[in-house]
Amino acid sequence: MTTAYFATTARGLEDLAARELESLGAVEVQPVFTGVKFSGDKQLLYKVNLWSRLVFRVLVPIADIASKNAGELYDNVAGIDWGKYLNPNQTLVVHCTGTNGSLNHTHFSALQIKNAIVDQQRQQTGTRSSVDKEWADISINAHIEGDRCTLSLDSSGESLHRRGYHPAMGVAPLKETLAAALLDLAGWTPDIPFLDPCCGSGTLAIEAALKSIGVAPGLYRRFGLENWPDFDRQLWSELVTAAKQQQKEELTAPIFASDADKAMIDQSYTNASFCHLEDKIQFTCESLEDLYPPTDTGIIVCNPPYGKRVGDVETLRSFYRLMGDIFKQRFRGWTAFILTGNKELGKQVGLRTSARIPVYNGSLPCTLLKYELY
Ligand SMILES: C[S@@+](CC[C@H](N)C(=O)[O-])C[C@H]1O[C@@H](n2cnc3c(N)ncnc32)[C@H](O)[C@@H]1O
Repeated sequence: MTTAYFATTARGLEDLAARELESLGAVEVQPVFTGVKFSGDKQLLYKVNLWSRLVFRVLVPIADIASKNAGELYDNVAGIDWGKYLNPNQTLVVHCTGTNGSLNHTHFSALQIKNAIVDQQRQQTGTRSSVDKEWADISINAHIEGDRCTLSLDSSGESLHRRGYHPAMGVAPLKETLAAALLDLAGWTPDIPFLDPCCGSGTLAIEAALKSIGVAPGLYRRFGLENWPDFDRQLWSELVTAAKQQQKEELTAPIFASDADKAMIDQSYTNASFCHLEDKIQFTCESLEDLYPPTDTGIIVCNPPYGKRVGDVETLRSFYRLMGDIFKQRFRGWTAFILTGNKELGKQVGLRTSARIPVYNGSLPCTLLKYELY
């Protein structure tokens, strides 16, 4: 059976995510603002959750209702048979986005929806689901636009950027989905040596290694769809088994990650160990000043500190100048990409960019600067 799905994405990554969904077998793929509409069967839904490196969540729309005001929203939510989707022993959470003239607080709208669901449960069974904002069994997404509300089941549960390998959090780590997108935007493929010289908690190098070995990014986590009444355990385990079987033993080309801070390297190593990649990525504690190219050619992708969250803009100017000098003098034959949220610092690199790709890091507008080093 073909079902319509909606994948949520970071702003600016819609087209890239649409191509990824197509490569996973999605049809009727249509990128829209911060999301991608697509269609497919249940196997595709499971596959996208297990394999997507770029999307946040996959929503399964179940109803489109009139919702001019709180009363209409409540009544129409109450008109849906919720027993099909959850039972009172399961915990519940409702997330709401979008507003209209009278429903102008997303928390209030979410509360109305939750009340309508649990009131129905109580009337029908005498008991109700508890709310769990952290690890709900069933996660419902509501999107209000104009006088309508689309209600969806969130098949991912927790956002897919949480692969499960970040037990230790670095200073300003990239989201895993953004790191994977940066590798794609840089044109990195597993046959090209990779280096992140400011690796922090190692997100870029780990995403590169996961892709190179062909590890499904969802292998180390759980999903909302596993709690659904129609969960097809056999189909899921077939996909997981197939994913494990097609993993490669070795990287195609080497992956290097270094950082000046020993604590960051320890953290990267811990994170990599979580997905059994600790002996695949070559970690070194090294300041950029002391760094020499480990191979003749390759791709550098890094997000050095840029003053908004880590470091101070003044002291970072000389660091960006140094980075430009080192790339130019030592890394001939390489292509370097620097993600920065600070234009002024980007200019300090002092090299001619061959591309400037706009990217959002959370809500922060950033640019991925490309330098051909020859
Ligand atoms: C914004 S963080 C990188 C975050 C990383 N991409 C992640 O996902 O965790 C910048 C990193 O640059 C490192 N750094 C700062 N100065 C450095 C230098 N001179 N040489 C190498 N690394 C440096 C910091 O220790 C920090 O871990």
